[in-house]
Amino acid sequence: MPRSRHVDAFNHDEEAAGYDRDVENEDDPIRAGYAALLDWLVEHARIDRTSRVVELGSGTGNLTARLPRAREIVCVDVSTEMTAIARAKLGRRPDVRFEACDLLEWFDRDSAPVDAIVSSYAIHHLTDDEKADLFGRMHARVVPGGRLALGDLMFETAADRGWMLEKYRDLGRAHVAEGIQEEFFWDLARAREELGALGFAVETQRFSDLSWAVAATRCA
Ligand SMILES: C[S@@+](CC[C@H](N)C(=O)[O-])C[C@H]1O[C@@H](n2cnc3c(N)ncnc32)[C@H](O)[C@@H]1O
Repeated sequence: MPRSRHVDAFNHDEEAAGYDRDVENEDDPIRAGYAALLDWLVEHARIDRTSRVVELGSGTGNLTARLPRAREIVCVDVSTEMTAIARAKLGRRPDVRFEACDLLEWFDRDSAPVDAIVSSYAIHHLTDDEKADLFGRMHARVVPGGRLALGDLMFETAADRGWMLEKYRDLGRAHVAEGIQEEFFWDLARAREELGALGFAVETQRFSDLSWAVAATRCA
C-alpha cells in the first residue's frame, strides 16, 4: 500500500492541543482566509443527504463541522490527537466516521464510489508527484458529476514560490519562509493542468496571499 513519503513528519499529534486557537489568528499569513475558505468549500462541494463524502486530513473537524448532513462522511487523518478533538466536536453526527490512515493509502482500503471529496490545508503535506497520484485516485473514485472541493496553501504558478519566499524572509516572517521551504505548497497551474487532463472541469478562488481553493467536477 502506498503511504505518502512524509506522513510521519506531518502527523499533527503535537500541534493538536493548540490547533484551533492557532487557526483563529488570521493575521498569520498561513492562516489568513481560513474561515472564508472553509465556507467556500462547503458551498462548492454540493453535499446533500444522499451524498457519500470523504474528507482528507480532517484534523480537528473544523471543515467537517460545517458540512451539511450527508449519507456518510468518512474523515481520514493520521493524527489520533487531532481526531480526538474532532470526535468531541462531531460525536453527535451519525453520518460522520473517522479512519486513522494515510490519505493516499485510504484509497486502497476503501473501494466504494464517492460523490464528493473535500480537504482543507492537508494536501500540501504531499509532494507534487504524490499530489498527481492523489488526483488520479480521486478521479477513479468520484462518480461522474461528482465534486472535489480542496483548499490549501498554494502558489498561482511555480515562479511565485521564489519571490514569496524572499518576501516573507524580508518581512521577518521566518515561520512562513520555513513552511514554504519545508512543505509542499501547491503549484496551482500544474494542479489545474493535471486535473483538467484527467477530465475535471476546474474553478479556483483566492482567499489570501497563500490560500486558494479549487472546485472540480468530474466530466469524463
Ligand atoms: C494543517 S492540518 C489541517 C486540518 C483541517 N483540515 C483544517 O483545515 O483545519 C493537516 C492535517 O492533515 C493531517 N495529515 C498530514 N499528512 C497526512 C497524511 N499523509 N495522511 C493523513 N493525514 C495527514 C495532519 O495530521 C493534520 O491533522
